[in-house]
Amino acid sequence: MNELDIYYFSGTGNTLHAVKDLKKRLPKARLIPIAGLLAEDIIKTTAPTVGFAFPLHMMTLPIPVKQFFRKLDLSLSEYVFALVTRIGTSGIDLDKILRKNGRGFDALFFLNMPDNDPKLKCFRASSADDWLRMEAALQRDLDAIAPKIIDRAQVGPQEDRAPIPVHFWIKPLVRLGVWLAERIDFQESFYADDKCTGCGTCEQVCPAGKIEMVEGRPHWRDDVHSYNCFACVDFCPEAAVQIKGNWMKRSYTAVNGRYHHPDVIPEDIAAQKSG
Ligand SMILES: Cc1cc2nc3c(=O)[nH]c(=O)nc-3n(C[C@H](O)[C@H](O)[C@H](O)COP(=O)(O)O)c2cc1C
Repeated sequence: MNELDIYYFSGTGNTLHAVKDLKKRLPKARLIPIAGLLAEDIIKTTAPTVGFAFPLHMMTLPIPVKQFFRKLDLSLSEYVFALVTRIGTSGIDLDKILRKNGRGFDALFFLNMPDNDPKLKCFRASSADDWLRMEAALQRDLDAIAPKIIDRAQVGPQEDRAPIPVHFWIKPLVRLGVWLAERIDFQESFYADDKCTGCGTCEQVCPAGKIEMVEGRPHWRDDVHSYNCFACVDFCPEAAVQIKGNWMKRSYTAVNGRYHHPDVIPEDIAAQKSG
């Protein structure tokens, strides 16, 4: 039996980078991708210490992490923590699904990282120095988190110092948006423009399996729900994957640029699916 298992989901590499660097400090940790386990009916953790690493999406769990939590049996685990990457808002209802099974997180750790959503390019590094500063802060945070995991420290959400304030009245709206997002596929009308070379990177990285190549072009399947992770947009080597504008908003992918963690390659993201 392994002592420490960390289950992770990463759309564009921030979370993967963070868990790999945490593992350098906790060498016995086993990293297990969540996307490769979603076909299972029940997922029973066996390690006494279990962690879950994932990005914050709409202030809460990404869709695949919710699906995963619903199948979890944590009865054999003694200490349970979450490692949440984000640009900086607080999280809401993060352990609501687990609590229904009688188990919450013993510790919630947050890591502030660059934004991968093409809507919000302002939360990315604006220069090489800025990038180094963000990376140094991440390493400092990981230095502080690793001993807390070893000591099985209790860290509640009240200890989070989220740098982006969220007014209390936004939370009910976010809850409604999150409820809808799991039921309606807001897949943002993805398409590939003329720059597409048919390389298939988007199909490779899509953790949901939503993209299939048809006659050398990506096709976003209607029968598969998007995880809203933007891996297809952010890893496209030609910046050819776009999001259509609509009556409410103009398309922003052409002007906002893209972001994925520079140390993470498409193969790393794709490997999550095979486990
Ligand atoms: C659909 C979506 C929603 C997001 N919502 C939030 C949010 O509510 N608060 C926040 O701080 N960051 C939010 N982010 C930013 C990501 O949590 C952050 O960039 C994360 O580190 C990405 O991790 P990954 O590269 O492992 O996917 C969001 C990103 C996406 C794609």
